[in-house]
Amino acid sequence: MDNLHNLLVNRRSIRRYTNQEVSAEDVKLILEAALMAPTSKSSRSWQFIVVEDKEMLERLSHCKPAGAAPIANAAFAVVVAADPTLSDPWVEDASIAAAYMQLQAEDLGLGSCWIQVRGRFAGDTTPSEEYVQELLCMPDTLPVVCIMTFGHKDEERKPCNTDKLLWERVHIGQWKEI
Ligand SMILES: Cc1cc2nc3c(=O)[nH]c(=O)nc-3n(C[C@H](O)[C@H](O)[C@H](O)COP(=O)(O)O)c2cc1C
Repeated sequence: MDNLHNLLVNRRSIRRYTNQEVSAEDVKLILEAALMAPTSKSSRSWQFIVVEDKEMLERLSHCKPAGAAPIANAAFAVVVAADPTLSDPWVEDASIAAAYMQLQAEDLGLGSCWIQVRGRFAGDTTPSEEYVQELLCMPDTLPVVCIMTFGHKDEERKPCNTDKLLWERVHIGQWKEI
């Protein structure tokens, strides 16, 4: 896409993907986007685990009882974690990188979806983070923020309607109750 505004208008969460693989070049570009994302004090506190194995994707899709199904049919997923000892705003560091990956994916014509892990629970009382850490042999000192899913789009979503943006959430000069 040749224009950032168009890209932002057209990016929608895509939860269904075709069976087509994503090229290694495109996977690399998406990870490059993450690695170029700004971080507090340039801490680069994030860690990214790329998962392409179908069986592992299926297991990751059970990290919580609802809302994680897109992981199972994604071409690949990126588990986004961060090290709180490197950056107190580690959640923000990780979140910006995740959003950058979504924008890069959209620019490549690929679909993506953010799957929330932090603060969620697997079917029992196990935190989703622990479930993911254990599956991927991660240290428990590395909290997982989200799992980003990627693949060729198998659904069409309408672009954002810019006529329906919540301008009442924008306050000029000072807070104004509406
Ligand atoms: C912090 C965050 C958490 C989200 N968690 C999930 C999730 O667990 N599962 C899911 O299917 N979508 C998830 N989403 C995607 C949102 O549902 C989606 O962005 C929202 O409905 C707006 O739709 P759009 O992205 O198509 O514009 C999440 C998005 C964000 C930013």
